[in-house]
Order: sequence, then C-alpha cells, then structure tokens
Amino acid sequence: MGLYRKGTAIEDISLGDDLDRLLEEATALLNQAGSVQQLEQWRVKFLGRKSRISETLKGLSQLPPEQRAQRGKRANDVKVTLESQLSARQQALSAPACQPRIDVTLPGRHHPQGRLHPITQTVRAILDVFIPMGFEIAQGPEMEFEYYNFDALNIPPDHPSRESFDTFFVDLPSPVPEKGRLLLRSHTSGVQIRVMEKHKPPLRIVVPGRVYRRDAVDAGHSFMFHQVEGLMVDTQTSFADLKGVLGQFLERLFGAGTQARFRPHFFPFTEPSAEVDIACRACRGKGCSTCGRKGWIEIMGCGMVHPNVLKAVGYDSNKVQGFAFGMGVERIAMLRLGIPDIRLFFENDLRFLEQF
Ligand code: PHE
Repeated sequence: MGLYRKGTAIEDISLGDDLDRLLEEATALLNQAGSVQQLEQWRVKFLGRKSRISETLKGLSQLPPEQRAQRGKRANDVKVTLESQLSARQQALSAPACQPRIDVTLPGRHHPQGRLHPITQTVRAILDVFIPMGFEIAQGPEMEFEYYNFDALNIPPDHPSRESFDTFFVDLPSPVPEKGRLLLRSHTSGVQIRVMEKHKPPLRIVVPGRVYRRDAVDAGHSFMFHQVEGLMVDTQTSFADLKGVLGQFLERLFGAGTQARFRPHFFPFTEPSAEVDIACRACRGKGCSTCGRKGWIEIMGCGMVHPNVLKAVGYDSNKVQGFAFGMGVERIAMLRLGIPDIRLFFENDLRFLEQF
C-alpha cells in the first residue's frame, strides 16, 4: 500500500502486476461471499475509500507523468470491473434461489366455484321469511312410521285419502309394530306430530325436508321432492292469523303486491282447509300454458289443525288451536327462477346448476 507514497521507490512499481493480483484476489473472495453483509464487507475492503484501488487512484499524482496515464487507466479498469462484478453478485444474491418463471401469455387457471343447489337456495329463502316471525326449524326422519305419516294425522288405515299420497312402503319389519309399517314419508306433516308429542304449546315451527311419492316422472312431477311444513299452536290462533302469516310470506317471497287467493279444499288433518294460489306470473292472471289457462298457480295447502290431531298428541283442543301449512319447494323454485321442468333439479347437469 505504501508503495506509491512519497519516498517510496517508484521504480519498483510495476505498472499493473499488483492490480492483476488484486483483481484475482477480489474476484475469488467475491465468489465466496454468500450474504448481503459479506458483500458489504467485500465492498468496503476492495472499493471503499481506504481500499487498495482507491489508494492507487489517489497516488497517481505522485507518479511520473509517463507512467501516470497507463497505470491510471489500468487502475480504473480494475475498479470498473470490480464494481460490475459486485453488482452482478448483489443481484444474484437478492433473487430467490429458485425464481418461478411466469408465462404471462398462459390462459388463467380456472377455479371452479361451488354454490348452493337452487332447491337449497329456495328452502333457505323460505325459512328466512318465517324465522323472523318466530318460527323455529324442526326436522324429522325421511323413513317414517305409518302412525306419523297417517294415523296421527287423522288418516285412519282405510281412509280414501291415503291413496292420494301414493306411498312407498319399506320392505322391512317395523321396529315398533304399534306405530305401523315403515314408509318413505309422503309429506312433512308427520313432523308436526313428532314435535307436538315432545313440546307443549305455544309453538311455532317450520319443517324443511324431502318427501317421496309414487308419481310417474314428468315435467311437473318427481317421485322425490321437497316440502316446507309450518305449524303454529297457541291459545287464540285463528284462520285470520294463518292468512296474515301466509300473506306476509307470499309478499316477501314473490314481491309486494303478489296476488293470492285461498281456495277451499280438503285435508284430513286440517279443518277448515284451503289451498293457496298465486296469480300466474307468466300471464299475470290472464291464463297461459304455465298455469294451464287458469291464471292461478297452486303453491300450498293449509288449514286449522284438526281437533283429532291435537287429541292424538294429548293437547286439549278446547284450550289450544293451531294452523298448519305445507308447500312444495320445487314448484316455488320453478316459479321464482323460471324453470320449466322439475327434472332439471335432479339431473346434476352443471350447465343448468351453474345458472343459479
Ligand atoms: N301435507 C299436505 C300435502 O302434502 C300439505 C298440508 C300441510 C296441508 C299442512 C295442510 C296443512 O299435500
């Protein structure tokens, strides 16, 4: 280092050998530097203010003019080389070990998004209307005893209305013979009985679930479909309450101003009974193919709980009354979503399901 200082033997100075060695040494050390800190130490040592190269450049003025230019050029070249080696090494170190290559021209990756089945969406939309009115959700088994599906609902064994429920019977011995044979429930009304057996009035429940009937499959029928049942029992429950609750429900589900009518009907488990129709949305009540030229579409059955049903669960029919209703979910989903064929719900065709 002192070589170029005043009083040194200038003649001894070679014009570049020491710089070649410096470059060699620095390059070797640089290749060993494995961290940002080590690079910084290296920079201070070989390019810092007190580095040999800096000293060499500072000492140029001491040299005889004829050596100055050549040595100066050589020192500068070495400095530039060291600087560019350093920055290459810095870049190599700061890049991740295995940098992923991104081909921005590739098409994006498709992440299929799951969603709720339109029937589930519809069940939830229905329940969402009743829950704020104080109804609680109850559920029951799909394989049911004859007793809950029929007898306790005032449908004795030889009652002709059993036939309207074309029921699937299960070919297994009944585990509780006094509750009759096993069957696939043909409506959710049996859950009314199961809940009333366990709970005292007042009560308000909604019961979503699958039901089964031996129906031939076509655009409007399926051997399996969904219902939402409702039941309210209290000391002063009247048909007016039933109309009020269902009127609210229809407006919430189908929109304000939805026209509805209660048409007298018969169910063994309610008296009086009615069916509820809404004005056909396709023709606004004028009559079209959707509503079979009637202008109205039936969407649920309802009525005041029959005293025999209350008796079957040990309620005093002189003290409490109730109303009940039951609706077909597929029918409602078809109306709300404009679906023409019930079979579409159960074919699991993604091109259909992805629309909702
Ligand atoms: N269970 C009846 C059906 O499946 C519907 C209903 C429920 C009617 C409750 C009246 C009261 O058709």
